[in-house]
Amino acid sequence: MIAPDVPDSDSEERLRSKTRRRATMNYSRFLNRIALARRPNPIRVLAGILQQGPPTMISMAGGNPNSYNFPLTEATLTLRDGSKLTVDPDSLKQALQYSATPGITDLFDWVKGLQKRVHKPPTLLNSTSDGHLDFLITNGSQDGICKALEAMTSVDDNVLMEIPCYVGTLSIVRPRGLNILPVNVDHNGVDPNHLKKQLSRWKPSDAKDPESKIPKIFYTIPNGSNPTGCGQTEDRKRAIYELAQEYDLMILEDDPYFYVQFQRPYVPSYLSMDVDGRVIRFDSFSKLISSGIRLGFVSGPEPIINKLALHMQTSVMHASGLSQVVLLKVLQKMGSTASRNMQLKWLSFMRRSVTNVWRQPENI
Ligand SMILES: Cc1ncc(COP(=O)(O)O)c(C=O)c1O
Repeated sequence: MIAPDVPDSDSEERLRSKTRRRATMNYSRFLNRIALARRPNPIRVLAGILQQGPPTMISMAGGNPNSYNFPLTEATLTLRDGSKLTVDPDSLKQALQYSATPGITDLFDWVKGLQKRVHKPPTLLNSTSDGHLDFLITNGSQDGICKALEAMTSVDDNVLMEIPCYVGTLSIVRPRGLNILPVNVDHNGVDPNHLKKQLSRWKPSDAKDPESKIPKIFYTIPNGSNPTGCGQTEDRKRAIYELAQEYDLMILEDDPYFYVQFQRPYVPSYLSMDVDGRVIRFDSFSKLISSGIRLGFVSGPEPIINKLALHMQTSVMHASGLSQVVLLKVLQKMGSTASRNMQLKWLSFMRRSVTNVWRQPENI
C-alpha cells in the first residue's frame, strides 16, 4: 500500500512558514569520543597558510618536496568537443604539491559559490558556534559519508536509514555495530509517517538525555535514490525536516543525483531548508564529470565539517591535487573565471548533459 503524502493539503506557503528555527544546536552531542578528541595537525594547518602565499615562496616547513624536481611540467587534455585544456606550469606545480585539506582555494570557492546559488543555505551567514555552513572537498562523496558516519556514530547506536538503501552506505554502517531503524520508501521517497512511527518509541525530550538511545541521525538519498530510483517531494522533505527539529536529528543528505532530477524546478534540498544547521549534504562530481577523478564535497555545520577535515588530515591529507586542478580547469573551460558566469555555465552544461543522457527535450 502506498502511504499518503504528509501533509496532503498544506500549501507551500504554509509549509514554508512552519520551517522556523527551533534551537541552538549542541554539536558535541552528535560526535563520538574519537571525533571529539581530534585536534589539528600543525603541518596541515601550515599547508592552508602556505596555500595563501605567493607562488614564488619557498617553504622550509611541512616536508614539501621541491616542485622543480617533479617530472611533469605541463599537461594538455582534449575535451569531448575537440577543444584543448592546458594545465599551465604554475597550476601543475600546485596540483603536484601538498595542498590544504579543505581543498585548493579556487575549487573550494567555486563549490561554495555553487551551493550558495543553488541551495541558498540559510546558515551560510551564521557564526561558527551557531552552525555556520562550511565545506570540505573529499575523495568522492563516499569518502565524506564514511567520515561523517565514523565521526557521528558509536557501537549500538540507533540510526534511521531509508530502506532499501545504497549498499555503499550499508557497508559503512553494518561493521560499525549500529542498529539500523529502517524507514519505508514509496514512489515519493521516504514516508514521513513511518519515520514518525519509528521515532514514537522515544519522547522528543529524550534527545536531552545523554544516556538515551534515541537516534541522532537520519540518512537519506532524496533524489534518484539508489536502488529505488525514487525522489522525495518537497512536502515530504518539509515534514521530515520538522520531525528532525522535533527529535533533534541530524539529516545526512546523500544527493549525488540532484542534477538528474526530471522535475523542474528542482525539488528544494534539505540544505536549502536548514534553518537550524542540522543538515550535512554530500555532493558528487562522479555522475556527470568523472567517477575516476574521485571528487565530491560535503556541506554542513562548521563544528561537524571541522571534525571530518581533521580526520582527513590524518588519512589522505587532502583530495588528489591533480584531480582538483584538472576538474577546476574543466569547470573554468565551461565558463569564464568570473564565478557567477562559470557556475551558470556549469549548471547549463549539467542540464545539457542530463538532457543527452536521458534524451529529454531541451525544456530546462
Ligand atoms: C547514493 C550514492 N551515494 C554515494 C555514492 C558514491 O559516489 P562517489 O563516486 O561520489 O563517491 C554513490 C555511487 O554510486 C551513490 O549511488
